[in-house]
Amino acid sequence: MSEFQGRRIVLGVTGGVAAYKAAELVRLMVKAGAEVDVVLTAAGAQFVGPATFQALTGRQVWQALWDERMDNGMAHIDLTRGAAALLVAPATADFMAKLAHGFADDLLSTLCLARDCPLLVAPAMNRQMWENPATRRNVAQLRADTVGILGPAHGEQACGEVGEGRMLEAAELYDELLASLQEKLLRGKRILMTAGPTFEALDPVRGLTNLSSGKMGFALARAFAAAGAEVTLVSGPVTLPTPRGAHRIDVRSAAQMRDAVLAELPGQHVFIGVAAVADYRPRELSEHKIKKGSGGITLELEPNPDILAEVAARADAPFCVGFAAESRDLAKYAEGKRVAKKLGMVVGNLVQDGLGGDSNAVTLFDATGAHPLPLAAKAEVARGIVSHLAKLLEAPRGHD
Ligand code: CTP
Repeated sequence: MSEFQGRRIVLGVTGGVAAYKAAELVRLMVKAGAEVDVVLTAAGAQFVGPATFQALTGRQVWQALWDERMDNGMAHIDLTRGAAALLVAPATADFMAKLAHGFADDLLSTLCLARDCPLLVAPAMNRQMWENPATRRNVAQLRADTVGILGPAHGEQACGEVGEGRMLEAAELYDELLASLQEKLLRGKRILMTAGPTFEALDPVRGLTNLSSGKMGFALARAFAAAGAEVTLVSGPVTLPTPRGAHRIDVRSAAQMRDAVLAELPGQHVFIGVAAVADYRPRELSEHKIKKGSGGITLELEPNPDILAEVAARADAPFCVGFAAESRDLAKYAEGKRVAKKLGMVVGNLVQDGLGGDSNAVTLFDATGAHPLPLAAKAEVARGIVSHLAKLLEAPRGHD
């Protein structure tokens, strides 16, 4: 992963139990190529010491306003210069109150005031503190000041209570931060997509399905949302968490997927079929479990609707994108599907490169030809698809 390659992030850690998650977040960012400068408040250092962050970042940790290590004595200004973002995680109720009022009485609050990069905060506090009118006022003020508020989550709290106020997990903060750094190439676009396999029931406990993991579709949904699109994700049965910012509709069979897609279609700018829709379904659905007999059995199958072809054939069709997973002759089959189904673009890959794994090598086929993207993590492939799609949506409309 090199999602943060060449980027410097300033991470402020204030005094909350969730500071331990900040250590994990630093580890994830450093692994993804980021340079991370950690700034600890006095209370933050009570929870996780500077030695931990120094070891994880390989860089010195900043704590004092009067730190003499910076040549010009201007740590409070220089640390955010050239940084991609300043993230405060955890951000206590007290620190958010300071931020909302522009206090600058320690290194971190002074950095926030003197910054020239985006500021994001990840609140972490007891649910009553989060719901307190004073905190509500401060959060509203911070939002109005264009400070990004990440979370908080609902759940069990360190104090034993359950409610809103718990800091997001490190992996969630990582995704949120990455998303906030993306260019909003698809702002204002509404994108409808399918993902995952479908399950065609034979009886109450059995059915026909395939090995699609849904990972590529979910990575794309995440990338579209991060690029500013409004995403509706119609998903077959998968075990993946819903991408932040996407509206998810769960379905099982191809017929249910088609119904959900048609219901959501009005007003969409783009439709993308990533789902591995079963081409056939059993002709009969047995109400009760099929019992084993002494001989073999024959399954009779009937074709499922082709959701993508049906959407693309409509007079009011949005810009349509298909996926083609082939085992050979990728260019021939993928381009063939693009023309046959009248699609604006087809994302083609060889099954041996992508199925079920975390990386993929795809080629984008559009009216201008074939555009290969390098083998990369599915999240990175998804960003490549986003920028190509954004260019196609800007170009004058036309399928061929
Ligand atoms: N698709 C769909 N509905 C179907 C079948 C496929 O929407 N019933 C969409 C997929 O989401 C994907 C594309 O169509 O975007 C795949 O095209 P298709 O020709 O159906 O692929 P395969 O089923 O793999 O075709 P073949 O078995 O002929 O290779």
